Amino acid sequence: MLQRAWSSDRRLTAISRGGLSAPARQAVVDRQVTPGCSVLDYGCGRGDDVRALQHLDCQAVGWDPFYKPDAKLEPADVVLLTYVLNVIEDPNERRKTLKGAWDLTGTVLVASARLTWEKSKVKGETFGDGLLTSRQTFQHLFKASELRDYVQEVTGVRTVSAAPGVVYAFKDETARLSYLAQRIVPDAQWLASEDTTSAIAAVVDHVERRGRVPRMEEVPQPMAELLRHLRPSELSRLVRDSADQNKVEEGAKRSTLNTLLFLAVELFNGRGPFNSLPLNVQLDVRAFFSSYKEACQRSDRLLLKLRDDAYIRGAMNASAVGKLTPTALYVHQRALDRLPTVLRLYEHCASIAAGRPQEWTLAKLRHQGRAVSWLDYPDFDTDPHPRTLSSYQVDLKTLETSFTSYADSQNRPLLHRKHEFLAADDPDAERYQRLTAAEVKAGLYEHPHLIGTENGWEAELIRCGRELRGHRLVRRYTE
Ligand SMILES: C[S@@+](CC[C@H](N)C(=O)[O-])C[C@H]1O[C@@H](n2cnc3c(N)ncnc32)[C@H](O)[C@@H]1O
Repeated sequence: MLQRAWSSDRRLTAISRGGLSAPARQAVVDRQVTPGCSVLDYGCGRGDDVRALQHLDCQAVGWDPFYKPDAKLEPADVVLLTYVLNVIEDPNERRKTLKGAWDLTGTVLVASARLTWEKSKVKGETFGDGLLTSRQTFQHLFKASELRDYVQEVTGVRTVSAAPGVVYAFKDETARLSYLAQRIVPDAQWLASEDTTSAIAAVVDHVERRGRVPRMEEVPQPMAELLRHLRPSELSRLVRDSADQNKVEEGAKRSTLNTLLFLAVELFNGRGPFNSLPLNVQLDVRAFFSSYKEACQRSDRLLLKLRDDAYIRGAMNASAVGKLTPTALYVHQRALDRLPTVLRLYEHCASIAAGRPQEWTLAKLRHQGRAVSWLDYPDFDTDPHPRTLSSYQVDLKTLETSFTSYADSQNRPLLHRKHEFLAADDPDAERYQRLTAAEVKAGLYEHPHLIGTENGWEAELIRCGRELRGHRLVRRYTE
């Protein structure tokens, strides 16, 4: 039997879990795994992901050399290789396993591995290029960029980090590019329409947001049916007459910048030919640039600006959103798309290289050096001074990543002036601003060096005779 030949007890690495694994969940969120698609879970362990994906109406099948050795190995649209590579002690077999999974992949391979930041949780003796634990299980913990490079090298295609420790390798460029486009500029929602009039209104709304008339192939099918009896020239005239020209111009500006952003990210990742771009991007290039060449030249210049400290600093100073500190600009997830394009590019390049974590609230872009951190504040909306739960950082120069968890920390860092991380028109901004004003008035910000962590902040609240009730500052009564 195969497992007899293993130098470690790999079957023990398979655990049971309630829901989907993080990599499988990521693939669902990213719409790589969709109802009806075929999924092969290669090295499925106890098969929890297979069962959960079957519940989501996927045609999911699992194979595992120990738990399911008799299952038939057949190609599938999506192949999951979840936390398998890190348990294989023999580098040749590790490579062969990855190659085997790739050979069965129809559209996308989702390869994941445990990362070096878990080092403190894995104890054992050095064995080959990893550790052998006291249970005789092996772990080779990957660096985030090592996993991406490794999958890239073995599959021979460009890969994208979907999340820390999760890498997508696409069988064809079109699938990779449409994933990237969707990630960088998610498709805008179309307004609902049940008759020709509302369908025309939906097209007008689209034109105002995108800055150009859509092609019929871009229009959702039921809406296209409602518009079918209109000639294209007739539809264009109706739209022209009803659309607000100022909005159309704003939409065109936004789409131009989004296209530049996409092409620059794509260049960071290695650029493909025009006809492999998603249709909507091709149409944007045609509508907003004189040629693909011009669009590429402009996006190349944008990418170059990323290296220019003075330019980046200037963009941060000029940004309408985000809080600028002596080291970095911090911005809330909800305001990220309002950053100047070069800063959006900065964040995207980091996320494509090392993966954005699944949970994050603020992005921190350093202006000295190039590093992005994603910070998680699970209670940002409800806690007036949210505490940091974790931080994941990638250095764009070295592609080194690091993860810090504050879960067990007694005196966690906390946030003040929450509105500064949001756009001014955010529905919560005003309420947060009112609280900040009350705190300033009460003298709570007189010693900024004391209030950055839980204990210091609590002490200052006591000193000023105040306490918080939700987002209200009230007098503290002592008995
Ligand atoms: C950490 S478990 C992960 C199981 C499952 N993918 C999950 O995430 O729950 C690693 C699994 O890899 C399987 N495995 C070991 N060597 C393998 C190989 N050469 N090819 C495929 N799977 C392998 C083991 O049997 C084990 O079930």
